[in-house]
Amino acid sequence: MVRVKNWFIKTINSTLGQKMIMSLTGLFLISFLVIHLTGNLMLFKSDDGASFNAYAHFMSTSSFIKLAEIILVLGFGLHIYTSWRLSRYNKQVRPQNYVYSRPDINTSWTARNMGFLGSMLLIFLLIHLYNFWFKYKFQADIPLVNNGDYKDLYLFVKTTFVEEWWISILYIVAMIFLGLHLAHGFESSLQTLGIQHKKYTPMLKRVGLLFAIIVPIGFAIMPFYFLGKWWVGD
Ligand code: HEM
Repeated sequence: MVRVKNWFIKTINSTLGQKMIMSLTGLFLISFLVIHLTGNLMLFKSDDGASFNAYAHFMSTSSFIKLAEIILVLGFGLHIYTSWRLSRYNKQVRPQNYVYSRPDINTSWTARNMGFLGSMLLIFLLIHLYNFWFKYKFQADIPLVNNGDYKDLYLFVKTTFVEEWWISILYIVAMIFLGLHLAHGFESSLQTLGIQHKKYTPMLKRVGLLFAIIVPIGFAIMPFYFLGKWWVGD
């Protein structure tokens, strides 16, 4: 038992172990993005936000979702902490002689800037949580719907995107970062997890790339949608 414990601790502290943690938590966060995007698609339903508000109310009151949120925070935390440990390690062991080791030639811009992209996404996430999660929970002047049952989150999202237009721009730029982060993250996860199949790996890579394009576009359309509605006077 002690041996297994020692082996486990050694593995998760090795570079490969940490890369595996990055991959697994990354894939887990990807699954969150799918759920979040699917739920947010209700913003497009032409029912003045009734479905979206009911969905948001369910999400903020269900005990199962509360448990999922704790796991989500742990997933984000582990992903961010491990990336920090890995980048600190990489800085320590990086060869000084760039004549022989030219990362600018050997790797893509995205691969070299995953830390930067991740940090930008973290800043986006903090602003996003403050804007929609924190204010929704604690701001008192949000109108109530459904006979005063819960707050009109739909109206809140709509007015935020329209009245605070810089927030819309921030979301659109952040989604470009998200796309780049996902595109490289997915490909590098396949490599780290040793998924190498002649036929299926190229297919998985294409699926990953498609995902990295579709998901950020899906999110970015939301501020565009509300700005467009406002433009035509709706
Ligand atoms: C236009 C795009 C987006 C919109 C309109 C949006 C909307 C929202 C709203 C309204 C909430 C609060 C829901 C509640 O408390 O029940 C929320 C929570 C959250 N969002 Fe987003 N979101 C968007 C994009 C993103 C992206 C790209 C990420 C991750 C990179 C993200 C991560 C989160 C997280 C972690 C939470 C808190 C967890 C939760 O309450 O489910 N969101 N979002």
